[in-house]
Amino acid sequence: MAEEPPIANVPAHVAIIMDGNGRWASRRGLPRAAGHRAGTQNIRPLLEAAAEFGVQYLTIWAFSTENWVRPKEEVGALMRLLLESLDRWLPELHEKGVRLLHIGNLDRLPLGLQDRIRQAIELTHSNNRITLTVAFDYGGRDELVRAVRRLIADGVQSADVTEDLIGSYLDTADLPEPDLVIRTANEFRTSNFMIWETAYSEYYISPVLWPDFDRAELYRALSDYSHRERRFGGLRPVSTSPHRQQ
Ligand code: IPE
Ligand code: IPE
Ligand code: MG
Repeated sequence: MAEEPPIANVPAHVAIIMDGNGRWASRRGLPRAAGHRAGTQNIRPLLEAAAEFGVQYLTIWAFSTENWVRPKEEVGALMRLLLESLDRWLPELHEKGVRLLHIGNLDRLPLGLQDRIRQAIELTHSNNRITLTVAFDYGGRDELVRAVRRLIADGVQSADVTEDLIGSYLDTADLPEPDLVIRTANEFRTSNFMIWETAYSEYYISPVLWPDFDRAELYRALSDYSHRERRFGGLRPVSTSPHRQQ
């Protein structure tokens, strides 16, 4: 269990933009894929630490809709790493009570990977220790475009369009909005991550490259969050968002 002093106000939903794998590798004279491998290996201990700190939802962004423009070999390596990780770690994750979800496009991924992701979601659907959502082939604009298309296909009338209705058409419909977004590797941008859902999220930018982002650094981010005042447009800090939570 955690040996650090407990954090008073732990965010229910933490989303991480896992950045810096490539830099981690090139600083060591290694190919970029080695950075992605190291980054992937870092997910398990971080998930465990998040669960121990009391985080209920952890979302990790592993592949963006824009990442398809990278060299074919790198894209292939990222697909293989997700498949390998699911093959290797799914039984343990399931045993530890982790519920797995996916956001983004499934249908553009290799068929074997699509199947594996569906099986993982199905297997773990009634687990409740922590929800791990893997954002893979995910982009915020793409998510909105797909939501609008489905909304139109359902014949929704313009007068019925509300913020809640749009939220219910997003990939994240079953998730609360992120309380805290962590971006590693010192980049100060969203790169098209959850552009709807993070309207009132707190941001924490860490200089640490994702493969080196450890429990102590997560603790630092959560402690920092616990001192933030969230006002949601009002004059006083409020503890829970008045906006759509689920
Ligand atoms: C993040 O690491 C992982 C993905 C975007 C797939 P990067 O590959 O972007 O690493 P840097 O930014 O080049 O260091
Ligand atoms: C964002 O990182 C995507 C993921 C972490 C999966 P990028 O490295 O792709 O973002 P940019 O291109 O630097 O904005
Ligand atoms: Mg990057």
